Amino acid sequence: MVRSLDIANLFRSFGGDPQRYQEFEAPEAELHEAVSTAAPLPSPRAPVEAVRALAEPVVQAEPGELPPLSRELAQLHSSRQASQAVAALDQALSRSRPALAGPVLALTSARGGTGKTVIAAGLAQALSRSGQAVLLVELDSQNVLSSLLLQEASSTTGSIRAPLSACLAVDDRLRLVPFGAPDDLDLQALERALATDTQWLTRRLQALDVPADTLVILDCPTGSTPLTRQALALATRVLGVTTADATGYASLPRLERQWQHCTGQVHPLHLLNRVDPARPLSQDIAAIVAHSWGDRLLGVLPESPDLEQALALGQGLASVQDAWAHGLAELGRELLGELRPALRYAAPS
Ligand SMILES: Nc1ncnc2c1ncn2[C@@H]1O[C@H](COP(=O)(O)OP(=O)(O)OP(=O)(O)O)[C@@H](O)[C@H]1O
Ligand SMILES: [Mg+2]
Repeated sequence: MVRSLDIANLFRSFGGDPQRYQEFEAPEAELHEAVSTAAPLPSPRAPVEAVRALAEPVVQAEPGELPPLSRELAQLHSSRQASQAVAALDQALSRSRPALAGPVLALTSARGGTGKTVIAAGLAQALSRSGQAVLLVELDSQNVLSSLLLQEASSTTGSIRAPLSACLAVDDRLRLVPFGAPDDLDLQALERALATDTQWLTRRLQALDVPADTLVILDCPTGSTPLTRQALALATRVLGVTTADATGYASLPRLERQWQHCTGQVHPLHLLNRVDPARPLSQDIAAIVAHSWGDRLLGVLPESPDLEQALALGQGLASVQDAWAHGLAELGRELLGELRPALRYAAPS
């Protein structure tokens, strides 16, 4: 009654006709029904069942019925599962058969500038002089290895856009795969390829059809990069190069963590470089690591008095004839002695 009088007054104040006004009451029963057909709220007494009941329709829905975000998440999930399955398959395949016919030696380090590249180049040249066929592969975009071994390195490698796409002859028995000079876009494409294709490096090297009697040496970039991880998974021999100083010593735990990517049959070895007989600290570090590594120390190379000058003058590694060069040649002979069964076994009949 009071409400009708108020409404009549309201209509009059706006110049309207209160007789044309009609009230509607919302039917109470229908309201309750509408609430009960909506998604039930979790009851505080049975929270687990209620949450499960809410979650079930999402799990059981056909992909076509899912809202766009859920569908995308489902697709992402299944594509992740697919790439995990491919990676597991790749790993299983690489365990069951060697990726390349002959032995593969990878040179790695946890710290930069330990001498991986000069050792890779010097070792390859010494082995090649002794009659061993070698394929050197430069996995570092700095192209230092190419500049050490090729006369006109910058003009030769500067025209190679796709990484690791060329194979050049250094001498009769030594061939080199330079990293090349990809631009930023090519490098980004390489990063994407390495992230999704765990066999990228293997495929690149398989495409070269490396003869079974050839030793492949991989000069890895410093640290645990995607290319280093693929190199370690492919290598049959791994050599960690460390310098005989305090920072080299401190990097050893990182180097050993990097080696988790080696296959089960590979037992990585250490090589200590730049041991300086004139510095007591260098001698002490050499003694400590030699004691703790035992059989895992493949060799020790001294500080080279001639190396820097030879490289600065562009005279090439072959011109270095000091204790470092002789130590490296000796190391090459030792390594070849160990690898010979693998090379002979792999050699075509
Ligand atoms: N035994 C040595 N005596 C003197 N100098 C050396 C010795 N070993 C390496 N060097 C010098 O150390 C520098 C770094 O060597 P190199 O480029 O081979 O190291 P790297 O580990 O390949 O470096 P990066 O991490 O940049 O790839 C070079 O100038 C090289 O001449
Ligand atoms: Mg290097």
